[in-house]
Amino acid sequence: MEKLLDRISREMQDAFEKAGYNRELGRVSISNRPDLCEYQCNGAMAGAKQYHCAPIQIAQKVAEQCASSEAFEKVEAVAPGFLNITLKGEFLKDYVVSMKNSPKFGLEKPEKTEKIIIDYGGPNVAKPLHVGHLRSAIIGQSLKRILRYAGHEVIGDIHMGDWGLQMGLIIHEFGIRHPESVYLDESYTGEYPAEPPFTLAELEEIYPFASGKSKEDPSYKEKAMEATAKLQNGVRGYRALWHHILNVSVADLKRNYDNLNVDFERWNGESTVHDVIPGMVEDMKKGGYAYISEGALVVDVKEETDTKEVPPCMILKSDGASLYNTTDLATIKVRNEEDHPDEIIYVVDKRQELYFTQVFRCARKTRLVEDSTKLRFLGFGTMNGADGKPFKTRSGGVMRLEYLIQDIYEEMYRKISENKTDDQEMPAQEAEQTARKIAMSAIIYGDLSNQASKDYIFDIDRFTSFEGDTGPYLLYTMVRIKSILNKAKGAGISLEDLTLQSAYGSADKDLMKQIASFGACMESAVEELAPHKICAFLYDLANTFNHFYHETKILTEENTEKRDSYLALLQITLAVMEDMVALLGFEAPERM
Ligand code: ARG
Repeated sequence: MEKLLDRISREMQDAFEKAGYNRELGRVSISNRPDLCEYQCNGAMAGAKQYHCAPIQIAQKVAEQCASSEAFEKVEAVAPGFLNITLKGEFLKDYVVSMKNSPKFGLEKPEKTEKIIIDYGGPNVAKPLHVGHLRSAIIGQSLKRILRYAGHEVIGDIHMGDWGLQMGLIIHEFGIRHPESVYLDESYTGEYPAEPPFTLAELEEIYPFASGKSKEDPSYKEKAMEATAKLQNGVRGYRALWHHILNVSVADLKRNYDNLNVDFERWNGESTVHDVIPGMVEDMKKGGYAYISEGALVVDVKEETDTKEVPPCMILKSDGASLYNTTDLATIKVRNEEDHPDEIIYVVDKRQELYFTQVFRCARKTRLVEDSTKLRFLGFGTMNGADGKPFKTRSGGVMRLEYLIQDIYEEMYRKISENKTDDQEMPAQEAEQTARKIAMSAIIYGDLSNQASKDYIFDIDRFTSFEGDTGPYLLYTMVRIKSILNKAKGAGISLEDLTLQSAYGSADKDLMKQIASFGACMESAVEELAPHKICAFLYDLANTFNHFYHETKILTEENTEKRDSYLALLQITLAVMEDMVALLGFEAPERM
């Protein structure tokens, strides 16, 4: 469907044209004086110079031409030359009804369906997920849902850190602890056990221990680097041990991401492209792009217009080892060859921006991707604690993601237990599920309602509140609507085929206008990769609905046509909210 503002702009443009002016002047926007009118057009002001006359004269002539308009109830020319517009209730009602009857509320399909890969999550194997991983997961997953809803084909790839020094550290430390083990015995030719030689808990203890030790002890680090090289060069036992590390760790990652309603189509990692690197490096040398500088192989990526220094992209270290860069570049090459994506989007901490500038430039220069392939970096800010510093546990340590989720869940469980009234006893199982849903909304909305690139403060008290700009407030509003609809049903009112009428007052008209701007919100969320736009829309919608709710008798309305129209409006409000919260990554319970 044509977006509401486009639709009414078209009408205004026709009026400009009929009055003898350039139709381009007829663009309509939402009123910035809602006390005076609903929409406005400032075209007469812009046209004054061009037509050598007072803006008010133009405005008056245009307003006259609007008399027969299908869409406008009233168009007033006011000094110095504004056009103040009020919509016809019937027109708005018809628009909302066609939204209701169209798939995705009439959201227009993109001109071209794009194939998009989103690289998000980015956990490091054998390290537990901590709060720093929350943002990439939540933002990436939401973008995936939004872009799919808009009609694109989207593949999510987790791009695990599974190939670097942390692997060598674990392997080396394992060898010290288990000298009898067959894995590091290079003379061993038998089968390796199918069972992993460690539990998840042991694995998670080994990494920080080994990492700490390598910082104090250079020879320990040296050995870990040797183990890394052996792993990467394919020494059998090292690979077998690495597979165990990966399996144990991935099972745990899946469990954690499941808890957040986050999933990936591809569980690829840095290791996936290992075999592609030698060929890629060869091509970069042959193409004359890569050269040796201080022993290392590099590609220059600086450009004349740079205002800050952009250092060369390092492809191989002087010992021939590959780097984080190298695996990212090889991944671009493989994605291009296997999927031919129109776009690759990276949802990564904004502190890696310069790094991605280097990688993208290098990929283009060395022709790993077609010119038409967009490479986009969506950098997110840090999630801070109440003190404005990166979020920590009470004791000052790094907060594990699952503990954070558990904390919020417990807080929500406590709240809904307190909310319980005698006539609304909730069975324990339902209370648990409800608390989970609300907890999810608190965490996800708390994150996504901020523009991704900004740092934000994770404020548990604020995020879990049922009032204000929060996920639980949205759910509370949805539950309120569900409850009215259920009561209506209980009272014998049929909810099928309810007829929406033109608005009876300003509160229901406002609600219809807000619903009607769904298309514009979605379009900008897609274009700008901005879930926060959906959050802002939902918050406005919930406020507009609650205002309507407080102003209006719904179930006790004696005029049944009016009552049914209100119920129809509730249905569509709920349906829009349901789709939109699902795009963010949560859903409403039946009651709370
Ligand atoms: N594992 C990386 C880190 O912890 C993030 C990966 C981001 N994605 C990428 N393609 N480099 O910093």
